[in-house]
Amino acid sequence: MDSQFSPPRPADDPGARPRADWWRQAAVYQIYPRSFADATGDGLGDLPGVTSRMGYLSELGIDAIWLSPFYPSALADGGYDVDDYRNVDPRLGTLEDFDAMVAAAHAANIKVIADVVPNHSSNRHEWFTAALAAAPGSPERARYHFLDGLGENGELPPSDWPSHFGGPAWTRITESTGENAGAPGQWYLHLFASEQPDLNWDNPEVREDFHTTLRFWADRGVDGFRVDVAHALVKDMSLPLRSKPSLEITVDDGTDALFDRDEVHEIFAGWRSVLNEYDPPRIAVAEAWVPFTHRRLLYARPTGLGQAFNFDLLQAPFAAGEFRNIVARCLSEAETSGASSTWVFSNHDVVRHASRYSLPDGTDAAAQDAWLLSGGREPAGDPERGLRRARAATLFMLGLPGSAYLYQGEELGLFEAADLPLESLQDPTWFRTGRKAKGRDGCRVPLPWNSTEEHLGFGGSPWLPQPGWFATHAVDTQDGVAGSTLEFYRSALAWRRKLQTTEALQWVSAPDATLAHYRRPNGWEVLTNFGTTPADLPAGLDAARIVVASGGITRDPAHIPGETTLWIAP
Ligand code: NOJ
Repeated sequence: MDSQFSPPRPADDPGARPRADWWRQAAVYQIYPRSFADATGDGLGDLPGVTSRMGYLSELGIDAIWLSPFYPSALADGGYDVDDYRNVDPRLGTLEDFDAMVAAAHAANIKVIADVVPNHSSNRHEWFTAALAAAPGSPERARYHFLDGLGENGELPPSDWPSHFGGPAWTRITESTGENAGAPGQWYLHLFASEQPDLNWDNPEVREDFHTTLRFWADRGVDGFRVDVAHALVKDMSLPLRSKPSLEITVDDGTDALFDRDEVHEIFAGWRSVLNEYDPPRIAVAEAWVPFTHRRLLYARPTGLGQAFNFDLLQAPFAAGEFRNIVARCLSEAETSGASSTWVFSNHDVVRHASRYSLPDGTDAAAQDAWLLSGGREPAGDPERGLRRARAATLFMLGLPGSAYLYQGEELGLFEAADLPLESLQDPTWFRTGRKAKGRDGCRVPLPWNSTEEHLGFGGSPWLPQPGWFATHAVDTQDGVAGSTLEFYRSALAWRRKLQTTEALQWVSAPDATLAHYRRPNGWEVLTNFGTTPADLPAGLDAARIVVASGGITRDPAHIPGETTLWIAP
């Protein structure tokens, strides 16, 4: 990495942005609370840990934090199995700790986004416990999807639906009441782990309760919500259940048996009314893996959740044409919906992008699973190249209009921990596939804060072991260090704040097919060379005006290095 360092970061002017619009071009930093910072020393990150690092987050220059679930949970799916939607897991803190964290964030001019998980509760939620204790056909069972099985004695699941984590989406219970007490009885639906029973959104009580949850957190100062599997809430439960042996969505008309059904939008229109009770209105962003653009737009409407994730760049190969096409399409989508676009390369569900980009081109999601199973050895990756491309892609993305989602640790250039000891793995995918797919633990390893402290300054002995190489990425090894990934992120985020005004973007035709070049208002230019060899700097670009460069600033007046992005200030 070139070590000539970026020029000083510009002074921030937080007052420059309109309040209610903060989300449209926000840089949002995702915190996976169990793995961020552990203030209590029990090996599990917690809310006081987040508060203690508010200075770090502020200095990083992000506009908001999104916290993955911190609610009481048995952690069967990393907290996405919620026992109580309106409380904090005692291992992660208390409601007072939550309030203190929000206050610290707001004092630092950082908004807070909470994760809401409406598709399923945990099997320890009081509703599910009550459902198990009640009889078939009872109001307690009607908050979930309980059905009799098929076959002579109900021994077959009600349908062929698979679960996301492997195995069937149905689990049979043992009845605890009535004449069948003690005998195998009904089946309940869980599109994810068996500890995550799907809620029945046709039930008004379920709908009402989530309004209460939204208000509960909004009243505590939460600025917005990330909505987990937003497209799954409504299912076609008419009998006999339709066959759907794969979870893929193949129809684009809102009639799939399980996903993206039209009726889901009535629910979110109701949420929008609740969110609009607040000033400024609370924001919401849908996690909806919907392959059809016109359908995805429905979640992002101002009358709906208001924004939706798109995972298109995350899934794209590192190539100029692909990136250009995706950006052009997503920006026009955003314009149609009235929302702004979202961008993301890494989160708690995917292999970290520095590792993805280190793998040979064409290594798709299935091949990444195989790579993880081989402990990150097959195919051999090129980490230096991976990080170089990750930094170039990130800088390309941070220049775009819309909100940029960053995942904790990417600012340290962390790679996937692909060779975690097998006995440490916790992702339900690992267990539900009979140990054939490792799942997502490799991107969830607790952060390295200090290279010389025990547990790298995370706190107690981490719930997932930190690989030895984590020390070389620790915050203290990068803080103030010219050319480090951390300083690169800080510099890019500071310049982004300064340069970003309206959401306009204009493509500049690039002479070379491996280049992508766009201009933002006020003459801010972003240029990426996706090729491996240096390319000519397009005429009219002045190397003296480069303010951020993904590979470190070189003032070569004629070339842009391979796999590099440059920001050129007006
Ligand atoms: C999406 C979340 O991002 C993921 O981590 C979780 O396992 C599923 N939804 C189920 O809640």
